[in-house]
Amino acid sequence: MRVDVVTLFPELILQATSHSIVQRAQAAGSLELDCVNPRDFTHDRHRTVDDCPFGGGAGMVMKAEPLVAAIESATKGDPSVPVLLTAPDGEPFTQALAQELAALPRWVVVCGHYEGIDERVREGWITREVSLGDYVLTGGELAALVMLDATVRLLPGVLGNEESAQEESFEGGVLEYPHYTRPAVFRGRGIPEVLTSGHHANVAKWRRTQALVRTRVRRPDLWEKLLPLSKTDQKLLDAYEAEAAQAQVEPSSAWVDEPVSNPE
Ligand code: ADE
Repeated sequence: MRVDVVTLFPELILQATSHSIVQRAQAAGSLELDCVNPRDFTHDRHRTVDDCPFGGGAGMVMKAEPLVAAIESATKGDPSVPVLLTAPDGEPFTQALAQELAALPRWVVVCGHYEGIDERVREGWITREVSLGDYVLTGGELAALVMLDATVRLLPGVLGNEESAQEESFEGGVLEYPHYTRPAVFRGRGIPEVLTSGHHANVAKWRRTQALVRTRVRRPDLWEKLLPLSKTDQKLLDAYEAEAAQAQVEPSSAWVDEPVSNPE
């Protein structure tokens, strides 16, 4: 996958992508990353990239000419290359969008700045506008980095363990189940017994149940989309509820974090 980032702060992008998994993806040839700076497409002495808004008001607006020149350099003039813009009024960035981006051979992301960019650029050159959430960042670089990070880890071969990208939060619209590692007792806190039972089918059921319950409690919006549950999921949930009701009467083992002996 090739990604071109149109940014006034290329160092920020290059620095943040020179570590860990995104760096490894580049070294392995899974990701080709480049930055294009609109400032390199200015022709005045001050290399001006922004100007006052027509109609007055506070803040500066990114000028159309250098921005469009930078976008056209990034797409090499190919109109089929998607050009995304980071903007607080864009569509929410989701795992589904990360998956869509991961399937593209090439895309461009434009980092918005100041009060925004000249609306004519949005109309004529931007394919999709993406927001990280309902808050305002000082610039689009952090948003672009988040998009890049979430996307790159979905590329084939980038994560060591292929399964880990599939089982995690949001895949299939559910949050992830809880994880534990050794020691089995940490400062008096144990782990659910089923995890040391060696019974793989029960472990899988427990994990699925936890993922469902966690989604229902923490993210009612995602939960709504899961309904109606599949027969299997409904059965798991019914069993959980029955167990929880039982636990109210007499605390039992399966769903309560009780210390268990260390299997080592
Ligand atoms: N630029 C400023 N705020 C932003 C946000 N919330 N998401 C994406 N880009 C932004």
